[in-house]
Amino acid sequence: EAGRVTDTLGRPLRDLRISVTDRCNFRCNYCMPKEVFDKEHAYLPHSALLTFEEITRLATAFLAHGVRKIRLTGGEPLLRKNLEELVAQLAALRTVDGRAPELTLTTNGSLLARKAQVLKDAGLSRVTVSLDGLDDAVFRRMNDVDFPVAEVLAGIDAAQAAGLTGTKVNMVVKRGTNEHEILPMAQHFRGTGITLRFIEYMDVGATNGWRMDEVLPSRELIARLRAALPLVQLGASAPGETAERWGYANAAGHYDPALGEMGVISSVTQAFCGSCNRARLSTEGRMYLCLFAGQGYDLRALVRGGASDEDLQGAVASIWQGRADRYSELRASLPAEAGDASARPRRIEMSYIGG
Ligand code: GTP
Ligand code: 5AD
Ligand code: SF4
Ligand code: SF4
Repeated sequence: EAGRVTDTLGRPLRDLRISVTDRCNFRCNYCMPKEVFDKEHAYLPHSALLTFEEITRLATAFLAHGVRKIRLTGGEPLLRKNLEELVAQLAALRTVDGRAPELTLTTNGSLLARKAQVLKDAGLSRVTVSLDGLDDAVFRRMNDVDFPVAEVLAGIDAAQAAGLTGTKVNMVVKRGTNEHEILPMAQHFRGTGITLRFIEYMDVGATNGWRMDEVLPSRELIARLRAALPLVQLGASAPGETAERWGYANAAGHYDPALGEMGVISSVTQAFCGSCNRARLSTEGRMYLCLFAGQGYDLRALVRGGASDEDLQGAVASIWQGRADRYSELRASLPAEAGDASARPRRIEMSYIGG
């Protein structure tokens, strides 16, 4: 039945994350370390990328099965030329209940000051900006291309000015690298209407040399923050949400909506696979069922092989119906040494599949 497809664990399909490029102008060491993503690195050739028309056709097939939210990711999605044209095409699509899909974008913010208004005008609903610290030296070191923090902050301001509401900021926390930025970030975004989320550093891909001792568990992060800023826990706003929500409290200890909220995304210490309703479409048109999947399903071959819309819908449904992925839950039950990235089979990179 249309809109009701579920996987082998009973999870519906609600969220589609589309990677539009495998390139990025940053070299965050937890994602695209310089030593690996150097001049010799082979990025996808242009002919391999899905065209905007191909992406839109595939998105239509996903929407037919219940997708309500579409997120554009990368790499850095704003490096894809004329991205606003894709936004306009996707904004014209409809969910099974006849509504416009929520259309969002995850960006490093470097090109946002230039692009915010055209994206808004094309129909983008909101943006999520990655920002790992406010201190310029720390930020330049983390992006590893010496990019100044002021330009990202200007991009966030431009998004607000363009009328993109519901902006979120994602900060990946690495113990020993940017943990001292946690409190300044919370103080900076409190009361701005922007929701800051702290993300536990994850063992995605095979190149970042992930180690558990560099993960700052969200429990510990919240305990530290609460010692300086009063917080109260809020309930989930949508099923399958990645973040646990915390509201800033007033002097009386009550949540104050004027101060807003922040969140923690704890995929390492508190896996949320049980309600994971996310499918991913890679830059070259492979459908992945998990951020940690080893392989995807080639939908581009179907599109370029002349498949009908019904064929595409059927393929998406049968792939989703076979889904059993729950990597983060399984990782949590493995012994600690099994978390050593070098000891496991090669996985796809975050820059290829998108966050
Ligand atoms: P919104 O709350 O609507 O903005 O959506 P979201 O949280 O799904 O999107 P966002 O891209 O902001 O996700 C934030 C981060 O959470 C990602 O960059 C990932 O680090 C992590 N994340 C998102 N989805 C998953 C997932 O399915 N599995 C795991 N393990 N981590 C995820
Ligand atoms: N662990 C956690 N988050 C990561 N991101 C990229 N790599 C990792 C990782 N290893 C985040 C980015 C961005 C989003 C797309 O994913 O900072 O916010
Ligand atoms: Fe680029 Fe985002 Fe990866 Fe950093 S985390 S290298 S900004 S894709
Ligand atoms: Fe979903 Fe895989 Fe992340 Fe679990 S690890 S929440 S199944 S993407």
